[in-house]
Amino acid sequence: MVTRTMIVGGTGQIGSELAHELRRRFGKDSVLVLGHSRRPSEGLMDSGPYETADIRDRERLLELVVRYDIQEIYHLAAVLSGVGEKDPQFAWDININGLINVLEVARERAIKVFWPSSIAVFGNNCPHVDTPQDTVLQPTTMYGVTKVAGELLCEYYHRRYGVDVRSVRYPGIISAETLPGGGTTDYAVAIFYEAVRRNQYTCFVNKDTVLPMMYMPDCINAAIDIMAAPSDSLSTRLGYNLNGISFSTAELAELVRKRSPGFAIRYEPDFRQTIADSWPDSMDDYRATEDWGWKVEWGLDRMADDMFAKLRRRLAAGTL
Ligand SMILES: NC(=O)c1ccc[n+]([C@@H]2O[C@H](COP(=O)([O-])OP(=O)(O)OC[C@H]3O[C@@H](n4cnc5c(N)ncnc54)[C@H](O)[C@@H]3O)[C@@H](O)[C@H]2O)c1
Repeated sequence: MVTRTMIVGGTGQIGSELAHELRRRFGKDSVLVLGHSRRPSEGLMDSGPYETADIRDRERLLELVVRYDIQEIYHLAAVLSGVGEKDPQFAWDININGLINVLEVARERAIKVFWPSSIAVFGNNCPHVDTPQDTVLQPTTMYGVTKVAGELLCEYYHRRYGVDVRSVRYPGIISAETLPGGGTTDYAVAIFYEAVRRNQYTCFVNKDTVLPMMYMPDCINAAIDIMAAPSDSLSTRLGYNLNGISFSTAELAELVRKRSPGFAIRYEPDFRQTIADSWPDSMDDYRATEDWGWKVEWGLDRMADDMFAKLRRRLAAGTL
């Protein structure tokens, strides 16, 4: 029998591409996309069931879960780091009360949950290169605070109530379909869009900033693979470190210039520089590899080629 899946935050950067992939693999009617404040990208509403809800409305969530007989939730609704710093209380409300609602519904209906954490759980007081799975978690942003608290909630609901919840610490995600929603790693996406549109970009972090990133296909595979892993193979219900590819902004600009001659970049660091400086350059993700076979497929050059191909196609089609 086909598993009935709901993607909360399904119109966002990750959710919209996850929806297409899950519908492709498991059938379009088996995946309910839950939208809210972001307009769905092209094809998302026509390719399978679509509803809207505010994640803070637990009754509505439960009603949809019952109506569609949902067995798995990918909970991706969140306020990200850049937006969160502008209204920290709002970020707490969406990120924590939203997660508690999902965990409560999961407890009541025995639903399996995927909830992503982030590199934002780390702060200045831990190693920044090959950051270990278990280390000091002292984030400097409200977003990071909600990710640490969220991981602990997941672990608690698993231990106390047996909720089968699984989590990863994503690095910055690079993709060409839906724009990111206001995080600190957004520059690594915007640089490609602006290179294709105008061949120039003003970057909000400096040229020496190094952060771990990941291309969308690896991000999607990680979510689907950890959800498919046998429950007893998972040694933690906190977020698993996932390393992708690490590079400086200057290296990224060079990569772009090779594919877009004459590309010009200016650096005008803003408040997100301090956030970026507090995050790891790279993470040690051996535990994800050992427990459920995690492996990065996409390297830097292949990712850049694919980004340019996709965005140039969209520009030509008038959808960029
Ligand atoms: N994109 C990244 O680089 C990245 C990196 C690490 C972790 N993550 C995590 O992955 C998850 C998805 O991130 P994303 O980049 O797709 O985010 P996004 O900002 O692109 O999408 C978030 C989605 O949440 C929805 N949403 C916001 N408020 C809501 C509410 N009150 N009720 C229901 N839905 C609401 C929005 O409509 C949007 O579709 C988040 O938990 C994020 O913290 C993302």
